[in-house]
Amino acid sequence: MIRSVGVVGLGAMGAGIAQLAVEAGFETIGHEVESSRGDAARERIEHFLTRKVEKGQLEPAARDAAVARLALTTDPADLAGCDLVIEAVFEDLGVKHAIFRSLEGVVRPDAILATNTSALSVTEIASVLERPERAVGMHFFNPAPLMPLVEIVRAERTSDDAFEAAYALAGRLGKTPIRCTDTPGFVVNRVLIPLLNDCVRVLDETGVTPEDLDEGMKYGAGWPMGPCALLDLVGADVHVHASEALYEKLREPRMAPPPHLVRMLQAGKLGRKSGEGFYRY
Ligand code: CAA
Repeated sequence: MIRSVGVVGLGAMGAGIAQLAVEAGFETIGHEVESSRGDAARERIEHFLTRKVEKGQLEPAARDAAVARLALTTDPADLAGCDLVIEAVFEDLGVKHAIFRSLEGVVRPDAILATNTSALSVTEIASVLERPERAVGMHFFNPAPLMPLVEIVRAERTSDDAFEAAYALAGRLGKTPIRCTDTPGFVVNRVLIPLLNDCVRVLDETGVTPEDLDEGMKYGAGWPMGPCALLDLVGADVHVHASEALYEKLREPRMAPPPHLVRMLQAGKLGRKSGEGFYRY
């Protein structure tokens, strides 16, 4: 039974996951390399919980209790008592290996190590562990507090216990989990990444504006937000990186990032996080 959760990396995804954990009543420890980044994540969580209070969706006392359940640290050793630690850092295999190695050095032998990777192989991330059976994928979607899905990914050596514990945890966080195997892009990104790439190619081929393409997909295909707005939310850096990772594994031309997006990345037009993408923020 999982009682305490650790989150390594408190960017948009990690902060969102930590928000879910504290709201669901878990004692949560968030790890960041610099304390200022941890403080920024706490502010972000407080901001979104306060919006819920303002909209009558949460009692002020419940918000205060949730925020109080979040501890911050820059020392991985402080995660020693966690039943499950989820890493949500940049999609770099070397960085994830270093984190998993250092976590295994401090947590209990039965603690579960989860990764929020969206495009890397969970099996490969877990390969540096002495106990790879404790590793599992828990892939949240952006924005994590709002998107209901979590893909629970069984890697080559994931134990049934770790897999089922992660599945149950997603449910306790209020999410809808689905069971996946460790195939490139799992389920949703295997579909969504080439689809978004197609949308950018259509933009270039047809000369349609981002606004009109977005209206088209919202009102003609029932998407909750248009592809350009979604790419701005995800970030050109994250999307191009995920596309490249999938292209490398699957070699399907549609997986390769469209040159338009690569140019945006090179120009620093990352979307919401940089203030400009297809739109200005
Ligand atoms: N974190 C926490 N809370 C947030 C938030 C965030 N990042 N963003 C918004 N909120 C809160 C806000 O408080 C907001 O209310 P206020 O604006 O009043 O403050 C509240 O949520 C509701 O926000 P919205 O009004 O914007 O909500 P909406 O009904 O318009 O829905 C949406 C927003 C859920 C994002 C919807 O537009 C949607 O489903 N979009 C599609 C998103 C999607 O496809 N995501 C997947 C991306 S791909 C991915 O994640 C895979 C990967 O590996 C990269």
